[in-house]
Amino acid sequence: MTHVETETRSSDPSPSAPPTVDITLNVNGTSHQLHVDARVTLLDALRDHLGLTGAKKGCDQGACGACTVMVDGKRIVSCLALAAQYEGRTITTVEALSSDGELHPMQAAFARHDAFQCGYCTPGQIMSAVCLIAEGRANSDDDIREFMSGNICRCGAYPNIRAAIREVTAES
Ligand code: FES
Ligand code: FES
Repeated sequence: MTHVETETRSSDPSPSAPPTVDITLNVNGTSHQLHVDARVTLLDALRDHLGLTGAKKGCDQGACGACTVMVDGKRIVSCLALAAQYEGRTITTVEALSSDGELHPMQAAFARHDAFQCGYCTPGQIMSAVCLIAEGRANSDDDIREFMSGNICRCGAYPNIRAAIREVTAES
């Protein structure tokens, strides 16, 4: 059931304070009311205001994919998204993928195939991979390479990541 959580408002802004906005974000089935700097990104709203630290900040400029989340079923890089523009949208983060203590099939496949080393890119890889299959674009290794190219892995776990995606694609 959806419930509402309200963040405590900070004190009145001084004349020099940056503009702030009241926004409501629907994240992982919960509606959150926030009072934030109007310039805050969706990534910072998730991590710093909602405590959802699964999405990672790698480059903070749209180049690495570590911050990938799902909005209305589509993957986006949340570091380039203004939180205020995502009111009324359905936002899903990696925290919501598992249910009842069971890993999502993509999470389980990543574990089986050892598809990570440091793990920093992994939440973004997994969110992107789930969307890739929903997009019907995981048809070959070349397609997986191409359509996962926005998700960088500095540890070079790419062959294992592709193996995990291939396995879940074959099962779906
Ligand atoms: Fe968003 Fe790198 S942190 S793309
Ligand atoms: Fe280390 Fe991908 S597992 S960056």
